[in-house]
Amino acid sequence: MLCDVCSAREAVVYQRHSGRALCFKCFREDLLRRVSAEVRYYRLFTPNDRILIAVSGGKDSFVLLDLIKDIHRSELIGIAIIDEGIEGYDRLSQAKWAIDMAEKFGMEVYITSFKDSIGFTLTELIEMAEKRGIRITPCTLCGIIKRRILNRLARHEHFDRVITAHNLNDEVQTIVMDILRLDLARLVQLHPLSPLLSSNFVRRVKPLRRIFEYEVTQYAFLSGFKFQEEDCPYIKALPSLRARIRSRMFEMEGIKPSYPLNIIEWHDRVVKKILSRWDLKMPELPLCPLCGEPMSYGRKYCALCELLMKLGVSAPQAGHKAKV
Ligand code: FES
Ligand code: ZN
Repeated sequence: MLCDVCSAREAVVYQRHSGRALCFKCFREDLLRRVSAEVRYYRLFTPNDRILIAVSGGKDSFVLLDLIKDIHRSELIGIAIIDEGIEGYDRLSQAKWAIDMAEKFGMEVYITSFKDSIGFTLTELIEMAEKRGIRITPCTLCGIIKRRILNRLARHEHFDRVITAHNLNDEVQTIVMDILRLDLARLVQLHPLSPLLSSNFVRRVKPLRRIFEYEVTQYAFLSGFKFQEEDCPYIKALPSLRARIRSRMFEMEGIKPSYPLNIIEWHDRVVKKILSRWDLKMPELPLCPLCGEPMSYGRKYCALCELLMKLGVSAPQAGHKAKV
């Protein structure tokens, strides 16, 4: 079967939301066009911005890096690899391909770890939580710490943006979760035009937010990406609400492939209206007296310091070390 776009090469992907069969070249061009359009439309970053790409080593970060390197100057790109310190799981070898790719294209490489940044590995923190009977899923804890490390690293190294590899399905799961929790503030914060609440935050953007998860998987597969043999062992502990929404959304996508796209477009429209009608000039977020990082209004300490104190860490580390 020939590609529906060029009619010259053999089709290798069926793009179910558009109903087209595409060859690899036309598929890649389609992804590049959609990612560039999203970047330009929301000014996710501009041509002179220094951008720091968070790389986990998985297929999503591969696709992100492989596409971004074609739409942005390599010397303005840095990649950040954060070793969580998960027993039996070697983050650095999972992300080895990214280091090679960065070196090949002249991008900067930053490698850091939970241990260097806050003094403990994720496994140690989980054990401490278990001992104290504190209920927190590893993924939630991991997410809070990673966001903190990335933001500090980007700020210290003068990056203009932090780029993450969240795809359309990830974003839609978050939207549905926020709706179920009736959390309007988070729904607004998820929007690419949401106000930045602190000058200490480096804006985080997601250029793959309109690329379906199945497209990411297909692209990685067709590019010869070596899928990791092992997943993070905590993956089973994903917050159950997200896991349930994820599988329900896949079912819905099977019935009507454009559902996820419709949901994100609805979210974009509604929040844009809210942002244009409401006066959302919020005061700058206060700083945590322990670590000096921004924290939500009305708190005594930031969520991370509070958590670490509960775990028995009395003086949370403020610094980060990154190896370049
Ligand atoms: Fe963070 Fe698995 S990578 S919990
Ligand atoms: Zn703090």
